[in-house]
Amino acid sequence: MRILVTGGLGYIGSHTCIQMIEAGYHPIILDNLCNSKSSVLDRIKEVSGHRPLFIEGDVRDKRVLVDIFQQQNIDAVIHFAGLKAVGESVELPLRYYDNNVNGTLVLVSAMQEVGVKTLVFSSSATVYGDPASVPITEDFPTSATNPYGRSKLMVEECLTDFQKANPEWSITLLRYFNPVGSHPSGRLGEDPLGIPNNLMPFVSQVAIGRREFLSVFGDDYETKDGTGVRDYIHVLDLSDGHIAALKHLGKKSGLHTYNLGTGNGYSVLEMVNAFEQASGREVPYKIVERRSGDIAECWADPSKAEKDLDWKATRNLQSMTADSWRWQSNNPDGYPD
Ligand code: NAD
Ligand code: UD1
Repeated sequence: MRILVTGGLGYIGSHTCIQMIEAGYHPIILDNLCNSKSSVLDRIKEVSGHRPLFIEGDVRDKRVLVDIFQQQNIDAVIHFAGLKAVGESVELPLRYYDNNVNGTLVLVSAMQEVGVKTLVFSSSATVYGDPASVPITEDFPTSATNPYGRSKLMVEECLTDFQKANPEWSITLLRYFNPVGSHPSGRLGEDPLGIPNNLMPFVSQVAIGRREFLSVFGDDYETKDGTGVRDYIHVLDLSDGHIAALKHLGKKSGLHTYNLGTGNGYSVLEMVNAFEQASGREVPYKIVERRSGDIAECWADPSKAEKDLDWKATRNLQSMTADSWRWQSNNPDGYPD
């Protein structure tokens, strides 16, 4: 199958391209490089033996999309392209609604024009807002606490309405929990621009000496040790979830929604500990105020994906931290320009 992968040079997209190539799929990448580098392509080739066709362009550009669909005989789309920094989304909400919501609408309208009817969308556990309990199942109520989260929720709602009106389409909403880790080769990984917003890239940069200490956002939550608890999932497990979705649902019309998580919750301090063990480095930290908008705990009930997609996460915390460290220590400054 020939799959258009929007945002395919980003963190999750690049790992998914590798897993897809290994599974016999043929990815074609569209990315505008706003949060990635073209050297990622060399790494995909190095690890998988295949260099996917790359088109530098924007998902909001319908002409570019229609050209790709017409020339490349695309069977389905995995739509990763989007912006994901919560803090920035509060400062620049229009940028988020334009890129994430409008981008998806342009993509779907181009797909409709050419008759491609299978779409897998990158959603997030952020659509559960502050969940009333854990673990979280797909039928929990949804809500948003910031423009990034609202953009994901809006896209989910737009796609739900669209699928209802076009019942022959197959649309899959994959709600990711907290992707971490890297390809075990140490050649691909997460390469955030500027100061990392998320825990694991920050911890890695402290371990390598790029930052002095980690600020732990609060130790007075009602959790096992007072720090926030999340469902960290290895990025390769997450990538495999996309392939499972294409395999099981690609030809099955309907609107399908799945949690992609492990079902385990780890605290910030447990993650720091695990990282110290994997890296053999100390990760100094200071406890600071809670981060506004944070929740105490969040982890998935992933059993629906296991039942329907025959998928479950298999990589443990040790692989997540060891693989992150391999990437960070081999590529202290990320990908080359
Ligand atoms: P990323 O920033 O590494 O990758 C996104 C890629 O999309 C980048 O290469 C970027 O250049 C590209 N892009 C952005 N806007 C574009 C546009 N308009 N046109 C073309 N390309 C564009 O992010 P990621 O972590 O790989 O996330 C991928 C998707 O998964 C995003 O939609 C994100 O919101 C979602 N998601 C990520 C996480 C996470 O923690 N990483 C969690 C839940 C959901
Ligand atoms: C964040 C986003 C969420 C997004 C997700 C994945 C917020 C409020 N939420 O979720 O919308 O879907 O990333 O991209 O930003 N932590 C520290 N110190 C740090 C960084 C994080 O203590 O420097 C703690 C946090 O308080 C939290 C845990 O580590 O308890 C995980 O944080 P993070 O990696 O940012 O993920 P989420 O908060 O789950």
